[in-house]
Amino acid sequence: MHKITLIPGDGIGPSIMEAAVKVIAASGAEIAWDPQLGGMAAVEACGNPLPQETLASIRNTRIALKGPLTTPVGGGFRSVNVALRQEFELYANVRPTVSFEGLPALHGGVNLVMIRENTEGLYSGVEHFIKADGVNIAAESVAVITRSGSEKIIRYAFEYAKHHGRKRVTLVHKANILKCTTGMFLEIGKALAHEYPAIEFRDRIIDACAMEMVMNPGVYDVIVTTNLFGDILSDLAAGLVGGLGLTAGANIGKQAAIFEAVHGSAPDIAGKNLANPTAVIMAGMMMLEHLGEFEAAAKINTAVKDVIREGKFVTRDLNKDSQCGTQEMAEAIVRRVR
Ligand code: NAI
Ligand code: MG
Repeated sequence: MHKITLIPGDGIGPSIMEAAVKVIAASGAEIAWDPQLGGMAAVEACGNPLPQETLASIRNTRIALKGPLTTPVGGGFRSVNVALRQEFELYANVRPTVSFEGLPALHGGVNLVMIRENTEGLYSGVEHFIKADGVNIAAESVAVITRSGSEKIIRYAFEYAKHHGRKRVTLVHKANILKCTTGMFLEIGKALAHEYPAIEFRDRIIDACAMEMVMNPGVYDVIVTTNLFGDILSDLAAGLVGGLGLTAGANIGKQAAIFEAVHGSAPDIAGKNLANPTAVIMAGMMMLEHLGEFEAAAKINTAVKDVIREGKFVTRDLNKDSQCGTQEMAEAIVRRVR
């Protein structure tokens, strides 16, 4: 029996997480969920977006499945997602993007893994306004890149490639302009590449990479990059294969691991039974692999792919003529898992 922290999240979160819990239950994996609050739901319940009870639960279980959490734009509280990643030093954000057979999309044959540095860069939280006469006349956000943080994430990417039979690591940077921060990241990558002669190493500047990912995503295998670039490119990657409803990620550190969808709380479709539950179901699948529950994970992976290939019980983001909602898609996956 695995004890796992469950954070339903905001917006579409509770509905897609209900779907994921059903699918995981059907897979035969034995999970004791510990439901906890976070984000807007926690602000409403207790005035704090990241309650101590939630942190204590994750400290205890060391594993969480988390729904998307709303972060106010501009002012308001700091992102709980970023806070959780920093609190538990979840330095590696691992986001696979794979084409689904039978699903019309911009590209077929995509099979890449984004490995995003998850605690540093422009998300370090070092930012402030400069005021004159009570008016904000400038604003500064500091990108902090450390040698140790860069070594850790780039080594993680090479080790990931080695253990998953992947052939190529592409390091994405902007070292022509951001010579210190991403320049050092690139230099560390080039040095570490010598320790992995069996893996092809290349580097790309972020803007050219964005174009190449859209034109020819098949050249990408493992990508390693800094925090903001990884955030942007993983949504781009999702768009190549059919959208944000499909892709999941793991936030991995030594103390804990938190699994979630790449997408956010999608307020535009919340409460309408329209959200695609695939991304969080695949996050659950990644969590089961992490727990060593390979059989349950494989069942879920196959079931999701079958349901999407058949195209009948899929949400409207995948098939605009579909009348199928979040829970109906989840039930179709549950039937397949069994
Ligand atoms: P979003 O990812 O929530 O939505 C972007 C677009 O994709 C929307 O049109 C939405 O309807 C669609 N979409 C997302 N997930 C979908 C699904 N499962 N099925 C079908 N369509 C889906 O990004 P947005 O609107 O920029 O952010 C909303 C909130 O989510 C913000 O407060 C943001 O900070 C937060 N957020 C949280 C994340 C997390 O918890 N890890 C990640 C990204 C954003
Ligand atoms: Mg994002």
